[in-house]
Amino acid sequence: MARIARLSDVLINKIAAGEVVERPASVVKELVENSLDAGASTVRVELQGGGVDRIIVSDDGHGMGRLDAVTCLERHATSKLRELDDLFHISSMGFRGEAVPAIASVSRFTLHTAEAGADVGTRVTVEGGGPPVVEDAEPRTGTVITVEDLFFNVPARRKFLRRGETELKHAEEAVVRLALAYPEVGFFATNEGDTLFSSPACPEDPRERIAAALGPTAHPHLFPVEERRLGISITGYAASPEFTFNNARGLYTYVNRRYVRDRGLIGTIQRAYQDFLAAGRQPVVVLHIDIDPAAVDVNVHPQKLEVRFADARGVQEALTAALTRMLRAAPWLGAAAEGNAPQAGQPREAAHYALAVERFLTRAQEATWGAPLPTAMDAPDSGRAPLGPAPTGPLPPGVRPGALPFAPSSPGQAPAFGQAQPQLNEAPPPGYFAALRPMGLLGGRFHVCEGPGGTLVVLDPHAALERARLTGYLRALEDGKGPPAPSLFGTTLELPLAAAKALVEGREALGRLGFDVEPFGGTTLALKTVPPGLEGVDGRSLLEALARALPPKGATLDAVSLAEAVRVMACHAARRASATPLTDAQLRALLGELDRADFHPACIHGTVVVLEMPLLELERRAR
Ligand SMILES: Nc1ncnc2c1ncn2[C@@H]1O[C@H](COP(=O)(O)OP(=O)(O)O)[C@@H](O)[C@H]1O
Ligand SMILES: [Mg+2]
Repeated sequence: MARIARLSDVLINKIAAGEVVERPASVVKELVENSLDAGASTVRVELQGGGVDRIIVSDDGHGMGRLDAVTCLERHATSKLRELDDLFHISSMGFRGEAVPAIASVSRFTLHTAEAGADVGTRVTVEGGGPPVVEDAEPRTGTVITVEDLFFNVPARRKFLRRGETELKHAEEAVVRLALAYPEVGFFATNEGDTLFSSPACPEDPRERIAAALGPTAHPHLFPVEERRLGISITGYAASPEFTFNNARGLYTYVNRRYVRDRGLIGTIQRAYQDFLAAGRQPVVVLHIDIDPAAVDVNVHPQKLEVRFADARGVQEALTAALTRMLRAAPWLGAAAEGNAPQAGQPREAAHYALAVERFLTRAQEATWGAPLPTAMDAPDSGRAPLGPAPTGPLPPGVRPGALPFAPSSPGQAPAFGQAQPQLNEAPPPGYFAALRPMGLLGGRFHVCEGPGGTLVVLDPHAALERARLTGYLRALEDGKGPPAPSLFGTTLELPLAAAKALVEGREALGRLGFDVEPFGGTTLALKTVPPGLEGVDGRSLLEALARALPPKGATLDAVSLAEAVRVMACHAARRASATPLTDAQLRALLGELDRADFHPACIHGTVVVLEMPLLELERRAR
């Protein structure tokens, strides 16, 4: 007697169902994918009992003719893959021709479909993989698939379905994953008639879709991310560190529009955000990786969400670059200027601040490590006292008297080192700088200090000197004592025609600032005196910068040009003074000046004087 018998199709489909159909959510996923493959512009999902009792997926896609409507119930019947070669160039979701027959084999299944212009539509009914019953139906263009009593004929599996609520959550998530990838398609989902998800097509602004999925307040916190490299493109949106979750549920990644949840990818995203998020917070991103299909393995198990990239390292680098660029640019601060973010009122400073942080970080990165650290300086007596005398002046928002200056207001939200803290450019509490205990030089350039309460403070000498000089020049002008007493300079410089003209025309204004500039024949000028602090600077670049700051011919020296000219002066003075590392005495003097300096936002040049890492943050990282 023959021992081998061919399995019946019904049994084969049931076995396949074990792979394709795990729970109602998998049915939702497969059916919605088919709707998207059929070019639907709106997809509706209606559930009963979280999908355990009934799932209806309807679309306005191209529908099926009578023959296709019957054929699609046969195993390995697909309109999406004809040849093996196609397997490597798959652009549609499905391609195995497995889902429809598998689902029909483990449920009471009804397919209602019609092509555009058809006189009559088709209804096919299948009970537990039995013979299909075909009838005429209303010629509504598109497809409606109804799946009832999932696993009614596979008791072992039905038993494993969870309470409706759990299944509902999974089904909802299946809709969200697809909806996030197809903002050009409208998605509507209900359970027992209650809305689960509702989002009309929003091709112009996919952030609307993300907001529909992840919370209506997400929208203003989302920023575009883009990185295009040879053979790979990363696009999508990432939320600022101000919009985070306490778990990883806001991380959505797609490879060639297919949702994946790959440990490698998730880890890469988390690492990119690491320095920007407080402990326990998770980023929110919706990112698409588009890559040559031949360079990624998608022909995996239908439920598997992991991917295999031929060049995993390249993908990781591109992803990191894309996110890091967005995070470093801190566009959420600029967004305040457009009235996007809640903190209106500090618009331009915020934008400046973002730039400043970026520059600071770039400089910090450029600075070379390994330069020998000078011996630690003797701690001044007051050095370890939190702030010396109790601060008296007004404190920046979020800074409690005696607390860490510049530290975030709520301890749970401790920003990471280098992270934008808008308060940072505002006046520090009185005596803050004098209380710093300098410990040495970093990269031969940045002064590392211990701040109040054991914070790590890094001071940029150039920015600090610039701030101090700026205040000095402005005060000298405002005091009405006339220009600061000029120093001798005495040189002749040949300048470009436009610059020479502007300077000669602006001689009077320059005189008020302490410059004595005289024509010396042709485009050559004699620079006889400069304000203090500018002795020995590069005269040519100083004069060219001043020429640009001066008002056009005829215009008077207004506040704007004056501020710009003073800024140029402060910048050149700072550049010169910070060309060589400051001596202990110079640094002490500078810290004293900084305590008296004007940190009013109006005179912000855009450089950050100090960056601070609170002790809390250090402890978090040391863990
Ligand atoms: N909503 C739909 N609209 C139009 N055609 C559909 C729809 N759902 C299924 N089909 C047809 O049925 C075929 C089989 O679907 P399925 O079993 O999911 O396999 P696959 O999607 O892998 O091709 C599809 O290739 C498609 O031609
Ligand atoms: Mg399919």
